[in-house]
Amino acid sequence: MKHLVCKYDDLKSEGKKAVSIDRKAIVVVRSTSGEVYALRDVCPHKGPCLSAGMLDVSCTGDTVGEYIFEKDKEVLRCPWHSWEFDIKTGRSLFDPDKVKVKTYEVTIENDMVFVEV
Ligand code: FES
Repeated sequence: MKHLVCKYDDLKSEGKKAVSIDRKAIVVVRSTSGEVYALRDVCPHKGPCLSAGMLDVSCTGDTVGEYIFEKDKEVLRCPWHSWEFDIKTGRSLFDPDKVKVKTYEVTIENDMVFVEV
């Protein structure tokens, strides 16, 4: 079922917004290019709200001291131990097949954001 969660402009300043739909905690995030995604707002590690974390670009590297920024991959970083989740897929960067958060379909109609739950 589709739920109205906010206006598109509500996501412009912080880039994210915590909402509750049918008692499910969900975070709605806006990428730097303007797409909107929705993820379960619970870190699978110890359970804090991911919405209290930072939106950032992914950073990887094969060796200590090597930092490769992936501007096309944005992440939501857990505020407690910094696990990072791809905002498009909900998959963690360190173990994408096993550690992930649920994602929800988002639609935008007339500048209003809807999440399918
Ligand atoms: S509680 Fe989220 S990374 Fe530990």
